Amino acid sequence: ALEAGIEQMIFVNGRGKGMIEDHFDMAYELEHTMADRSKDRSVLDGTRLKPGDCVFVRQQEPLGLGHAIWCARDIIGDEPFAIFLPDEFMVGAPGCMKQMVSAYDKLGGNIVCALEIPMEDTPSYGVIDPGKRDGPITEVKGLVEKPAAGTAPSNLILPGRYILQPEVMRILETQEAGAGGEIQLTDAMAQMIGKQAFHGMTFDGKRYDCGSKQGYVEANLALALTHPEIGRDIRAMAERLLAES
Ligand code: G1P
Repeated sequence: ALEAGIEQMIFVNGRGKGMIEDHFDMAYELEHTMADRSKDRSVLDGTRLKPGDCVFVRQQEPLGLGHAIWCARDIIGDEPFAIFLPDEFMVGAPGCMKQMVSAYDKLGGNIVCALEIPMEDTPSYGVIDPGKRDGPITEVKGLVEKPAAGTAPSNLILPGRYILQPEVMRILETQEAGAGGEIQLTDAMAQMIGKQAFHGMTFDGKRYDCGSKQGYVEANLALALTHPEIGRDIRAMAERLLAES
């Protein structure tokens, strides 16, 4: 988000997630202990944003992604905003959102990240009904949340990165529950199509769906294997585990 030029971060969380808030605060005791022991404190540099740039909002009940986004309506106000679903982990150079901001600078309106997946996996996701395609950019003609098997309009799904216009908040205000009995962001976005520009952007990079156990392990392993400090050791460890299994 920082790389993409986003200044204010809003975290919408539920109960029991206070540690996330603490992570972005000053770790006073830790910083002092490290300073006393002459330890390298630079490891903490990435965990603090400028004062006022970090806002935390509670979604009291799990009523759906659309409702979670709507909980931040008064903080977002009347500006376009970006959404990151953090169980979807993207690795790219530049990062996914920076690529999307470049597309937004040319196209305006609403931009969603779009990803091709095997057709049989589409019932787990929001799916794009695609129009004209121009390189990585696809016109979005429609959106459907978690289509029943065999009914998806394409295999182009929404992997959890969005740049949206604030009008979506007004739609969410009265959005009824959809798939899974939840208030769906996808349903609210679908109502903006035809009224505002709406495009999908295929991202150049790798995506890990950490909402599944396999995806979570894969993301950790993939990043650890290329890590400058521990990559070699992790590779040796992985090879040993494979040989033993
Ligand atoms: C949510 C969205 C869905 C999107 C998915 C990406 O679903 O509702 O449109 O494709 O995230 O992971 P969830 O994973 O919360 O069921």
